[in-house]
Amino acid sequence: MLIRRCAVLFLEPREDLDIDWTSLFAGEGALGATMRWVALAPHLGEEVEVTLPEMAALGDIGFTLWQDRAGCEERHGADHVARLLQAGLLIGDDADDATGAAFRERDETLRSQHWRPLSAAAHMFSRWGDMRVDKGMQFPSFEELVVSYGTPPGPAIERCADGQAIMLPPPERARLDDTLFQRYTGRNFDAAAVLPTATASRLLQRAFGSQGEREMAPDAFVLKKLSPSAGGLHPTEVYVMAQRVEGVAPGLYHYHPVRHALEPLAAMDTAQTAELAMRMVADQDWFVDAPMMIVLAARVERNFWKYRNHAKAYRALLLDAGHLSQTFYLLATEAGMPAFVTAAVNEVDIERAFGLDPLKDMVVAVCGCGMASGAQDTVEMRYEP
Ligand SMILES: Cc1cc2nc3c(=O)[nH]c(=O)nc-3n(C[C@H](O)[C@H](O)[C@H](O)COP(=O)(O)O)c2cc1C
Repeated sequence: MLIRRCAVLFLEPREDLDIDWTSLFAGEGALGATMRWVALAPHLGEEVEVTLPEMAALGDIGFTLWQDRAGCEERHGADHVARLLQAGLLIGDDADDATGAAFRERDETLRSQHWRPLSAAAHMFSRWGDMRVDKGMQFPSFEELVVSYGTPPGPAIERCADGQAIMLPPPERARLDDTLFQRYTGRNFDAAAVLPTATASRLLQRAFGSQGEREMAPDAFVLKKLSPSAGGLHPTEVYVMAQRVEGVAPGLYHYHPVRHALEPLAAMDTAQTAELAMRMVADQDWFVDAPMMIVLAARVERNFWKYRNHAKAYRALLLDAGHLSQTFYLLATEAGMPAFVTAAVNEVDIERAFGLDPLKDMVVAVCGCGMASGAQDTVEMRYEP
């Protein structure tokens, strides 16, 4: 049997702090610290604790060339090699071993996407699954934050002495102002309002749709959209959860930017969409009455095709989604509605619902929009002249 190490692996010395009861009762310091090594391998998506001899084996067995298992066992011990294979940190070529084959498949998927190793780890280990308010997702108010952390750093900084700054004239009003000043993050949506088809159609097409296709080289196509995108590649896919959209049955869809069409993925009743809405935004109940919610998920392969193993590629994917969400905000504002964007989302639940592979489809954010209810149950920050 041949083996090699998984493609991407980071080892973190983890410190666990605990109350040391013996010291506490002896009148000494109450905190005790335990150290352990944690392996972060993005193809697994889960942390694995490792021992020092296992770390030595992982540092010795390379991730490119396949090696004979027997030789590795001789150097590092059969038990350690077996345990690392079982944990998926070493990859074997044994076709009859189903667990090993599953690890190999995940490792191959990771390799095929051209992730930058640090970015893959950042992405895979910052996802939430089933995060809820009662499990640790907290939304402290500003007042509570100030009590805990003191006042925040000021909202603006000065980099030169008084009198040295060049004072600029006030800007003249222009056409974009009406929309810019009306935009705000909505947190009080009308739970009964239905989003008209025409409004949903314009929002989706202008925010996420293609305005033209160009062949940059033989069989290499890019889309022109109304937001910028790194390399012009537009890797961000748009998934829609329709709760109350006129002419669209409640459920999950993929928005096709060229066909300008919603591709059905799963039919749901309104109780199911309401439950999933809560889960998607980690219990932020102020968002869940939005009739249309949108998942922005980067198809990493599209960007990494050009920016392979690239230090800036992950950053570009996040920026791309930010631009799309702002365009979406402005279009919703123009249509007389507030919108929202949130990164506090349960990626794992979203991936499961929409059938996305986190090594290929990176859920970045969730947006939504809808009519305002007129209530102010949750704080909003509208522009006040
Ligand atoms: C990346 C990002 C993440 C955000 N996440 C949340 C969130 O989790 N919950 C929330 O209520 N608002 C969220 N917001 C909205 C901000 O709180 C909001 O933009 C900010 O308070 C300013 O208000 P305004 O958008 O009305 O001007 C997010 C905004 C951005 C850009």
